[in-house]
Amino acid sequence: MKYFLPLTDPILELCEISLKLSGLQILDAVSIGVPQGTVTGLIGPNGAGKTTVFNVISGFVLADSGTIKVDGKKQKHVHPHHLTKKGIARTLQGVGLFPTMSALENVMIGGSSQVRSGIIAQALAMPWTDVEQNRLRAQSMAVLGELNIADAANRLPGELPYPIQKRVALARALVSDPQVLLLDEPAGGISAADISELAELIRSWVPKRTVLLVEHHMELVMEVCDLIWVLDAGKVIAAGTPDEVRRDPAVLAAYLGEDGAT
Ligand SMILES: Nc1ncnc2c1ncn2[C@@H]1O[C@H](COP(=O)(O)OP(=O)(O)O)[C@@H](O)[C@H]1O
Ligand SMILES: [Mg+2]
Repeated sequence: MKYFLPLTDPILELCEISLKLSGLQILDAVSIGVPQGTVTGLIGPNGAGKTTVFNVISGFVLADSGTIKVDGKKQKHVHPHHLTKKGIARTLQGVGLFPTMSALENVMIGGSSQVRSGIIAQALAMPWTDVEQNRLRAQSMAVLGELNIADAANRLPGELPYPIQKRVALARALVSDPQVLLLDEPAGGISAADISELAELIRSWVPKRTVLLVEHHMELVMEVCDLIWVLDAGKVIAAGTPDEVRRDPAVLAAYLGEDGAT
């Protein structure tokens, strides 16, 4: 079938991943590949299973069957705390920042599993040594600076405008210097101007990093992706270049009647 593309150099591969939750088939033999150094899109109507794919890759949920390969190596259960050690980082749909920690501390959490495991324990107890903490703080400030939000460092997430919160969440994913970045709707709730800056930013990361992008804003997806996989009701229904996917009748049919997918 057309969507089993010949993939060169995939850094991340899902092979026949299936998952049932509460008796419902949420993912049904999903096979997708992410070629190294590309921006690869994962799109589909609401409820298609995109965030669940990210949850499976990051070990938040365990698939019933199928395999995941990172850099050609089959993964046993990846513990979420060890994800950054595998060179993978993700953002959460929304922002998912800790509300009582400053922007800087939130970003430091993203780099903390390089130091020690137990992200939540660290968030609560901060058992970092001074040296570790100073190094992480400097790295985190540098990433905030790269994203032009250094002046937000000491503010709580709730004090910051939503687009800035989204950047803090991005910084938290970037601070571990991941090879593979999983972005779950990074453009959700931000303005057209911010989306166009985001597009530039995403393209600036490749080919050094590889990006798997879940996004509802079709313009952004079509602009930044080299390759797109389309999921509908837990199944891959299409794949190809932005132009191929845009014209695919199965994709158009899947999106019919769906709000916010334009
Ligand atoms: N823990 C769960 N139990 C049962 N169903 C779930 C659970 N988590 C997600 N789902 C369902 O799985 C489907 C896919 O969800 P999700 O991956 O969030 O979709 P998307 O990110 O593509 O919008 C949805 O129908 C959702 O309701
Ligand atoms: Mg989602």
